[in-house]
Amino acid sequence: MAQSRATSTRSRLPTNANIVDLDDFTESINMLVYGDSGSGKTVLAGTANEKMLILATEHGLIAAKRQGSRAKGWRCDTWSDIDKAYKWIKDHPNHGFDWVCIDSLSEFQQHMLRWILDQAMAENASRDPDIPAIQDHQKWQNMYKRYVRAFNALPVNMLYTATAFRKEDEEGEDLILPDILGKDYGISQWTCASMHIVSYLSVRRKKDTREEFRRLLAKRTGPYFGKDRYNVLVPYVDNPTMPEITARINNKPRPKKAPAKATPTRSVARKAAPAKATPVRPRKAPATATRRTPTRKATP
Ligand SMILES: Nc1ncnc2c1ncn2[C@@H]1O[C@H](COP(=O)(O)OP(=O)(O)OP(=O)(O)O)[C@@H](O)[C@H]1O
Ligand SMILES: [Mg+2]
Repeated sequence: MAQSRATSTRSRLPTNANIVDLDDFTESINMLVYGDSGSGKTVLAGTANEKMLILATEHGLIAAKRQGSRAKGWRCDTWSDIDKAYKWIKDHPNHGFDWVCIDSLSEFQQHMLRWILDQAMAENASRDPDIPAIQDHQKWQNMYKRYVRAFNALPVNMLYTATAFRKEDEEGEDLILPDILGKDYGISQWTCASMHIVSYLSVRRKKDTREEFRRLLAKRTGPYFGKDRYNVLVPYVDNPTMPEITARINNKPRPKKAPAKATPTRSVARKAAPAKATPVRPRKAPATATRRTPTRKATP
């Protein structure tokens, strides 16, 4: 009885072409990888090979080339180069790339600031060429946000790289975030909020063999910021490549586990996550998914 009432209520609901099933709701991927210099960000971008166009706002593409990457590069030594590349990508939707990488967003911001200061100098020669005036800050912050939004809105997956910077929060706790200037760390946080994935890349060594490997952390862990809206890279992926990341995102999302702490009572906990109710994935779960999340003090 209750069910038929619910069905008839649904059939009377107004329809609208803008309302679609979430399965039909597609968005291109916007991913930010940050880490210390030498952690392997450019090499990671290059693993997408011919599917990747790298907008090289800084030098360093050679690292990907030496690792055998077949990605394409577009040298962007000035803001005007970046702007030209953006317009070309927008005007040529059949460019054939699945991914565009801005390597790096930290330098992208520097090129923008340089352009604004040059404009100000052209209007007023007495201006200091290196020190932004108060009014310049609002201009570059707004312009930065406008361009990141515009790149994110392109119908192509975006990968951004950034160096890492360390910062103390109000409580004196360490925070490690992408090195994006502005409003203390407000613009860096804004950038993280506008991404689907934010991940920290680091070089580690195996305890037993001392063999070097790279870890991509996609979950907030101690001072390291990370997030993954797809829930497919958490807590981390070892020796990541772009084909693996893309494949994980394009597969079905992993079922969410009920968080133990958020569950108010034991009886509800049993109801929320019964052992039998957990769907079994047909494909083998990645080894990384079963590892313990590192503790706050751990270095990813
Ligand atoms: N997956 C990898 N396998 C083997 N070596 C790697 C790998 N990734 C990076 N390296 C090594 O680390 C070096 C630095 O890598 P890369 O230039 O990608 O770092 P980066 O994070 O982009 O640094 P920067 O911020 O200075 O540009 C490479 O030249 C290469 O020797
Ligand atoms: Mg690099």
